[in-house]
Amino acid sequence: MDVTEALTSRYSVRGYLPDQVPDELIREVFDLARLAQSGTNSQPWHIAVVSGEPLDELRRLLCERFDSGDQGGRDFPRPADPLPDELMDRRRACGYSYYATMGVERADREGRARIARKNYEMFGAPHAAFFSMPRVLGLSSAVDMGILLQTVTLLMVERGIGSIAQGALAQYPDTVREVADIPETNGIMYGMSFGYIDTEAHINTVRMPREPLETITSFVS
Ligand SMILES: Cc1cc2nc3c(=O)[nH]c(=O)nc-3n(C[C@H](O)[C@H](O)[C@H](O)COP(=O)(O)O)c2cc1C
Repeated sequence: MDVTEALTSRYSVRGYLPDQVPDELIREVFDLARLAQSGTNSQPWHIAVVSGEPLDELRRLLCERFDSGDQGGRDFPRPADPLPDELMDRRRACGYSYYATMGVERADREGRARIARKNYEMFGAPHAAFFSMPRVLGLSSAVDMGILLQTVTLLMVERGIGSIAQGALAQYPDTVREVADIPETNGIMYGMSFGYIDTEAHINTVRMPREPLETITSFVS
């Protein structure tokens, strides 16, 4: 598999088999991901992997908070709504296409909450990783974290491992810290569920569209 094939075949996986990925393979992925580039070679990242019983406990704790209606709060707060129109439109379209695949109407608040809850069930994945960086860092280091995320994702695709990045897993950072081993002064940027793909899971048929080249680029020559 080459990079182009890894990129074009990848999608966010929301249905997993329970089988554990061998520990050596997980370590190989994160060991290679260390080679990702970062500004001034700062390598601001830390990745905390949680599997097995601790992950089941974390699922339980996060679902409990979500079910209680607790909104939580992120270590690195999101920009306030409304975002520019085209970004709001894409975000809505993303949610609706996900709900439609699961047979949930837009007006069905309970159905939408049931789907959002799956984030905290880690979509049934046998592993989760939490990506954190020192809280004092800002936007430029967030770029480094994004590069790491994509590097890990593509290395996993190459090894037949599916994954999904989840901002939702940064929503209750204090609960995550109770279980995951995260450096004290770090803030959690996002989580990732990963494992082998359940190819029978209907939710895995969702494919999100992309804007055409003309929309996202300009060329002057
Ligand atoms: C930083 C980041 C955070 C994300 N957070 C979530 C999330 O919390 N829940 C979710 O279901 N998907 C999440 N996603 C997945 C996006 O919705 C998905 O990447 C996008 O819709 C494009 O679809 P694709 O990955 O299948 O190509 C996230 C993706 C990224 C890169």
